Amino acid sequence: MRTQVAIVGAGPSGLLLGALLHRAGIDAVVIEQRGADYVLGRIRAGILEQTTVDLLERAGVGRRVHAEGLRHDGTELAFGGALHRIDFQALTGRHVTVYGQTEVTRDLMAARAEAGLVTVYDAADVAIADWDGGAPKVTYMLDGRRHQLDCDFIAGCDGFHGVCRASLPAGAITAYEKVYPFGWLGVLADVPPATEELVYANHERGFALCSQRSRTRSRYYIQCPSDDRVERWSDDAFWDELRRRLPEHVADHVVTGPALEKSIAPLRSFVAEPMRFGRLFLAGDAAHIVPPTGAKGLNLAASDVGFLADALGEFYGERSDAGIAHYSQRCLARIWKAERFSWWFTSLMHRFPETGEFGARMQRAELDYLVGSQAASTALAENYVGLSLD
Ligand code: APR
Ligand code: PHB
Repeated sequence: MRTQVAIVGAGPSGLLLGALLHRAGIDAVVIEQRGADYVLGRIRAGILEQTTVDLLERAGVGRRVHAEGLRHDGTELAFGGALHRIDFQALTGRHVTVYGQTEVTRDLMAARAEAGLVTVYDAADVAIADWDGGAPKVTYMLDGRRHQLDCDFIAGCDGFHGVCRASLPAGAITAYEKVYPFGWLGVLADVPPATEELVYANHERGFALCSQRSRTRSRYYIQCPSDDRVERWSDDAFWDELRRRLPEHVADHVVTGPALEKSIAPLRSFVAEPMRFGRLFLAGDAAHIVPPTGAKGLNLAASDVGFLADALGEFYGERSDAGIAHYSQRCLARIWKAERFSWWFTSLMHRFPETGEFGARMQRAELDYLVGSQAASTALAENYVGLSLD
């Protein structure tokens, strides 16, 4: 089989890249090691910056996010027993859209199927070769046979544990990493959200977040120790702990119900540089991870593949290598700013076992400053709604 761009991984990065390339008249095949249902079963964040919604539109999958996405003009910070609103609209003139990553993935899968584009699911033992020579290829096992996909370029959209970054020789890549000493225990439930907007809570028992997927589906998180196990948390224990960490009037509005999904995610900041190696590009979680505070992961993945689709469009349309040459630099400028914001927001809102009472007082002083200063509130708001693409 031959294609112009072989995309490894059918998560949001790979599928969105495929859709953008299709719109640009560039042929791509997606190779995914799991099944479609497994990909849809992963529950991730659901806050879209306007630039991400614009890209979904450009990719031809904007209909449902427009119809069903919820516009949020602000968010709440909870500390000292009270809520403090950050008004994105007043401070920046912009908003975010609440629409789950699962739904983005579902829309992209449906569009791919409708356009008759090739996605190979359940591909085992995926390997990449010759990305720095003239004949890049992706090979994989399917139905007991090894298959080969010849291509001009390989897009490594295969997530943090994927094969593309791992195939690079030692020394080709520099990785920067910070692992946080806690995780997030998350519950998804078919109950109406406690509040109109999201609530990020700094509490002495640990961080808590009230999020939502729709008017009838809520997503809640609590900070937990890194070595905690999900089996240790009954639904009741989760709801009790969540309510303890919220201001009383918010806790009173939490509607409880059976967990549709319950999982623990570790928190990590990670960046691999550069993001291009000859004819191999890394995009999304394959190249970088942010802790979920601020929900930047999907938005960064989207802007990476937007830049990559531009670069490949220039290559095929104008026979220019300029976009390809600048891909890594263009992505990383935006990535590092989002890494900084996600690290800062994480540091401000969580209990850090090692910083003790002094650390907690510093957080409280910063939170008081943040909600009392228009300059500081604006800094939070403009990062949350998303910095410009340049
Ligand atoms: N071969 C083929 N596919 C692979 C391989 C492999 N060796 N390794 C991993 N994959 C697939 C995974 O099964 C997964 O479906 O690549 C896909 C990567 O998807 P994601 O992990 O969702 O990464 P990405 O598409 O970059 O999406 C980034 O996901 O983690 C969130 O916060 C993050 O929202 C962001 C988004
Ligand atoms: C989510 O809805 O899962 C979510 C929302 C906001 C975040 C993180 C996760 O900052």
